[in-house]
Amino acid sequence: MYVCICKGVTDHRIRESVEGGARSWREVQAETGCGTQCGKCACTAKHITREAIVNE
Ligand code: FES
Repeated sequence: MYVCICKGVTDHRIRESVEGGARSWREVQAETGCGTQCGKCACTAKHITREAIVNE
């Protein structure tokens, strides 16, 4: 599912970023561009990032 419409980032892409070594929302953001435009996706994207980190 698309989390970030502006940058075309899916929940899968966020998990992939964490699997690839990202350890914070800031790192996921820098790698994927998620949340860097309008910012409306930030709350959901942060939640998915945290969940992915905990489940690593
Ligand atoms: Fe993610 Fe706009 S929906 S920055």
